[in-house]
Amino acid sequence: MSHLIAPSMLSADFGNLQTDIEMINRSHADWLHLDIMDGVFVPNISFGFPVVNYINKFAKKPLDVHLMIVEPERYFEEFKKAGADILSIHYEASPHLHRSINEIKKLSMQAGVALNPHTNVMALEDTISEIDMVLLMSVNPGYGGQSFIENTYSKISRLKELITNKNASTLIEVDGGVNLENSSKLFSAGADILVAGNTVFSSENPQETIEKLKNIK
Ligand code: DX5
Ligand code: ZN
Repeated sequence: MSHLIAPSMLSADFGNLQTDIEMINRSHADWLHLDIMDGVFVPNISFGFPVVNYINKFAKKPLDVHLMIVEPERYFEEFKKAGADILSIHYEASPHLHRSINEIKKLSMQAGVALNPHTNVMALEDTISEIDMVLLMSVNPGYGGQSFIENTYSKISRLKELITNKNASTLIEVDGGVNLENSSKLFSAGADILVAGNTVFSSENPQETIEKLKNIK
């Protein structure tokens, strides 16, 4: 599979959201990454259903929704209704992970599991075959624009090995501090999808930056 790019709307201009969504529609981006933060699981609050519904109204690409919230299972149906295609929950916020993964899939969404930087990939040894995507946090969740944690490369390799050993088809997404300098090494390590917020939206020409990320070998 050729790699996918998911711009993170957290860094978009919320005063001109429609313009940014339309730019992504025109670009070679594959998904729109939406960060939902509750101020409890992470020390920041982002946005909720009205914004997700609005994005869904204009977006022509799949919505990749990253839940950084406690008790995420309370909201699976509502995120489905709001247009989520891929729904990721945090391992650290999900005591009944196996049940939650299956509930997401029953609602016809792809099930993702996100791991904080301190969580060992082997925590997913017994569930990996059921998971459509693992979202590896390469910064501590909560804010855009943070610096990339270098240990992520080895985590990607160890996760890839686990996926191969279990004969699974799970995709690996990397989220946080992704830029034009580290993306090639991330793909070589085994990443399938890169999320990029600050790198895209703080650049002079966001659409061109997306094309550059998409063309990285
Ligand atoms: C951080 C979020 C990320 C964030 C990435 O908690 O999960 O998706 O938007 O932003 P950048 O690419 O700026 O690090
Ligand atoms: Zn995210």
